[in-house]
Amino acid sequence: MCGIVAYIGRRQASPILLEGLKRLEYRGYDSAGVAVMEKGKLKIAKAVGRVRNVEDLIEKKGDFDGTIGIAHTRWATHGGVTDKNAHPHRDDTKLGHGIAVIHNGIIENYASLKTYLTEKGHTFTSETDTEVLAHLIGELYRGDLEKAVQAALREVTGAYAIGVICEKEPDVLVVARKGSPLMVGVGKDEYVVASDSSAIVAHTTQAFTLADYTVAKLTRDSFRTSTVDDVPVDAQVKELEFDLAEIELGNFEHYMLKEIHEQPRALRMTLQGRVDTRAGQIVLGGVSQMARQLATARRLVFVGQGTALHACMIGTYLMEELGKIPSDWDYASEFRYRNPIVEEGTVVVAVSQSGETADTLAALQEAKSRGALALGIVNVVGSSISRETDAGVYLRVGPEIGVASTKAFVGQVMVASMLALFVGRRRYLSADYVSNFLQNLERIPAAIERTLQLSDHIKKAAAKHIERENWLFLGRGLNWPVALEGALKLKEISYIHAEGMPAAEMKHGPIALIDKGMPVVFVATRNSQYEKVLSNIEEVRSRGGAVIAVATEGDEHIKTLAEDVFYVPDVSEMLQPLVTVVPLQLLAYHAAVMRGKDVDKPRNLAKSVTVE
Ligand code: UD1
Ligand code: GLU
Ligand code: MG
Repeated sequence: MCGIVAYIGRRQASPILLEGLKRLEYRGYDSAGVAVMEKGKLKIAKAVGRVRNVEDLIEKKGDFDGTIGIAHTRWATHGGVTDKNAHPHRDDTKLGHGIAVIHNGIIENYASLKTYLTEKGHTFTSETDTEVLAHLIGELYRGDLEKAVQAALREVTGAYAIGVICEKEPDVLVVARKGSPLMVGVGKDEYVVASDSSAIVAHTTQAFTLADYTVAKLTRDSFRTSTVDDVPVDAQVKELEFDLAEIELGNFEHYMLKEIHEQPRALRMTLQGRVDTRAGQIVLGGVSQMARQLATARRLVFVGQGTALHACMIGTYLMEELGKIPSDWDYASEFRYRNPIVEEGTVVVAVSQSGETADTLAALQEAKSRGALALGIVNVVGSSISRETDAGVYLRVGPEIGVASTKAFVGQVMVASMLALFVGRRRYLSADYVSNFLQNLERIPAAIERTLQLSDHIKKAAAKHIERENWLFLGRGLNWPVALEGALKLKEISYIHAEGMPAAEMKHGPIALIDKGMPVVFVATRNSQYEKVLSNIEEVRSRGGAVIAVATEGDEHIKTLAEDVFYVPDVSEMLQPLVTVVPLQLLAYHAAVMRGKDVDKPRNLAKSVTVE
């Protein structure tokens, strides 16, 4: 959630910090701020709204020199979205030491700490949990910033990635993390710290990630890492694998559109080296060690949130169909708190783009502590979830910048299908069956390419209904999660109210909503439930609803029932979600653009939800 950038080196800090914040904008935020230090004097600029507003403030202030600084984009959890609540936060003005702190995450015990500090005479100027942490560090400061940070972090519960500077030690930057992501880029006589590598790669490709409960003290030419208990730990500086072009917009107007169009290429990467079609072999290096355990598993539970949850639902279908192992899906946020049954032979599969989703990480930890084997289906290499899992499979779809997930979704579904096949092959499936399935899998990228050509048609169709505030998305079987995903995409970026549900469920209440012209999107491809869906379409038509259908190429009949039909290539039933979701992504995209919304930075949303 939101982001952190910090710099110490020999160059001017503020341009580097601002540029870094802009790179992190995609993560979602509501306010931003920067602090730099020169000759032992802190300068702070912060404002509600875009990073641009902070940049303007800095320009107005003029003198904002300094070669060490911290910067933040906030996604408010404690206290409203105000200039005062924006970070950086300072320690107590009277009792303090000129300390400034930026923080992503939540300090859960901030209330009791605040009471304690108030009794000690501290006065607070914001409503945030973060300011309490800043004051606590100040309270514990005895002339050594690193030690004060360690001492403060020993007292807090919750999640954090922080950056701290102090007027009394103007050549020291201290950063730390627990739960929230943080990475340290190592340059020549400089360090660039950030929530993810996109803010680092422009400066250096050498970096290390901080483990939980680790603190790094950075000076211009050296660093030291230790636990919060001051036990030294090694940091492994590694080459960042990152292609700057992947995070540039190129010819596209928005990252979301770029990423929708990247899906064929992304899925080819997901498949690369993992399938041997002729031999009917599927090679998942990440889980090969676990093959026996997986094949003899008694139950699989897929957990995730949002779009990833929809991939979990599809994963469940595929695992039961191909792997023949009883499988469930659950919201990670529900699973973690409901005393889940984890028995011998239970495998939990955590699905997440960022690998930092707080609820999914916690669900995974809960399942592990109950003895489950933990697998990950994750995009970001080295992320918290991928490290916490026993094994897993990376998506390899490249960085996803658009807040509304697209290519990561198809990547998750594709990996889930490969995992199901991997298990199935070790249980019941013949090499021939697998070989045939893999041929179908390899056709998917081209099928998506064809589907992308529908973009203009979809735009025109969206225009017809753009004034409507309520939409329904319906599907059956594997197309039910796709309907949910279509509705979620539309909500996320166009702010149109949309509901997705199993087509049959409509009769049990939601049908009351249908009035003349209400757009109802059916995912109605030819499959085992096609005839049933046609009946549902009739039900909507007879109540005046405007039917939009995603259907299989060559289906002439459906044209007589729907106002608009988006034809997708015929692919095997189990793989249909990979194709049927694409028109729905484009529909949401065009609707949002037509409504003048900020597609890549939808209000209230964050790219990776690192708070529960
Ligand atoms: C790996 C390499 C790839 C190399 C290939 C050659 C990485 C990231 N991948 O790919 O560059 O070309 O071998 O054989 O180095 N993992 C988890 N949890 C997760 C996801 C992954 O623990 O959520 C683990 C896997 O168990 C595995 C490792 O991360 O140990 C890499 O996974 P993955 O990239 O999927 O493996 P390969 O496809 O074999
Ligand atoms: N909990 C802090 C706040 O509300 C930090 C939120 C964030 O992660 O940006 O200010
Ligand atoms: Mg999401």
